[in-house]
Amino acid sequence: MNINQIKKDFPIYNQKINGMIPIYMDSACVTLKPNQVIKAINKYYKEFPACAGRSGHTYGRKVTEEINHARKIMQDFIRAKRKEEIVFTRNTTEGINLIANSLNLKSGDTVLTSDKEHNSNLIPFQLLQEKGIIHKIFNFGDIEDFKSKLTEDVKLVSTVFTSNLDGTSQPIEEMIRLAHKDKSLILVDGAQAVPHKEINVKKLDADFLVFSGHKMLGPSGTGVLYGKLHLLEELKPFLVGGDTVKNSTYTGYEPEDIPERFEAGLQNYAGIIGLAEAAEYLKKIGMKNIEKHEYKLNQYISGKLIDMGITLLGDTDPSKRGGIISFNIKGVHHHEVAGILNESSNIMIRSGMHCVHSWFNKHGLDGSARISLYLYNTKEECDILIEEIRKIKKFTE
Ligand code: ALA
Repeated sequence: MNINQIKKDFPIYNQKINGMIPIYMDSACVTLKPNQVIKAINKYYKEFPACAGRSGHTYGRKVTEEINHARKIMQDFIRAKRKEEIVFTRNTTEGINLIANSLNLKSGDTVLTSDKEHNSNLIPFQLLQEKGIIHKIFNFGDIEDFKSKLTEDVKLVSTVFTSNLDGTSQPIEEMIRLAHKDKSLILVDGAQAVPHKEINVKKLDADFLVFSGHKMLGPSGTGVLYGKLHLLEELKPFLVGGDTVKNSTYTGYEPEDIPERFEAGLQNYAGIIGLAEAAEYLKKIGMKNIEKHEYKLNQYISGKLIDMGITLLGDTDPSKRGGIISFNIKGVHHHEVAGILNESSNIMIRSGMHCVHSWFNKHGLDGSARISLYLYNTKEECDILIEEIRKIKKFTE
């Protein structure tokens, strides 16, 4: 991987702030966008700004063709069996809400999530409790605890593959196998996994997988819900309206085929086309190369921070934390750490509870500073980061 060459694809690096090039390390939140993606988005607006699946004119046909092509690209990206298994959403959050509200869960059914879920994979199931659905929690990554909570009443396991809080991954293949042994369905939140590692849903055998475009070089407002076709067929649509029906009367309707049945209203066509371009870009670089690159940088940063006596959250082995390093410096608030890095050297990281308030509350912590890396980060940037953190740490001594 030639990172300096890759950086040339990202226009943000042509921009200086206070005379310095930005060091962007908040990719777990939103990634930067390469020219290829921006160009694909613009192409839609400049050349065929119409809607798909409806109008039969030249522009309408072109958009329909482009969206079909984008679906095939996303199918290939996660190795799904069929393109109908790819539902375009606005983001991971929408995908989870769609399943929570379409699965036809009944009073007395149980949904199992871990204690380290993003709010998006927690609140939808808290709301279902009003309908008598039971919500149980297991300890993240703890297979014995997971097994003990997998009782007969569990109809759905909805859990994260890689935590956005500390980057640690769960043994998801084993969990999928166990869920199926228990006759439960399993939804995998792949928001922090799909952009960083090779995913093969056929091998993984997850029933549902959700992820976002904005965390994989794609535009905001784009995402994918993958579902096994026979399971998608059983879902009761959650959002209905334009293009989700074949015909309707004043008293009923005939649903559209899958996946359009779940894509209500006019879609973010420019975004979907941009997302497909992002997937192609990542594929060209190679997901294995990206994963290796992030581990290497993580190992380097983690080693230096541990040497300084800084506490890291999550697994102590950096190879288990992908591109995320979540930490706290005793005596300096995490918001201050992020603020100083931003002001001193344009290093952009995130601080706070990272939308996983429940876990921080359980552990009596008020948040952490979080570095999250991607394919465009370099060792030189890590060196600048480490030196700035060293200076902050010195203040406390
Ligand atoms: N889930 C995103 C993050 O972790 C917003 O930053």
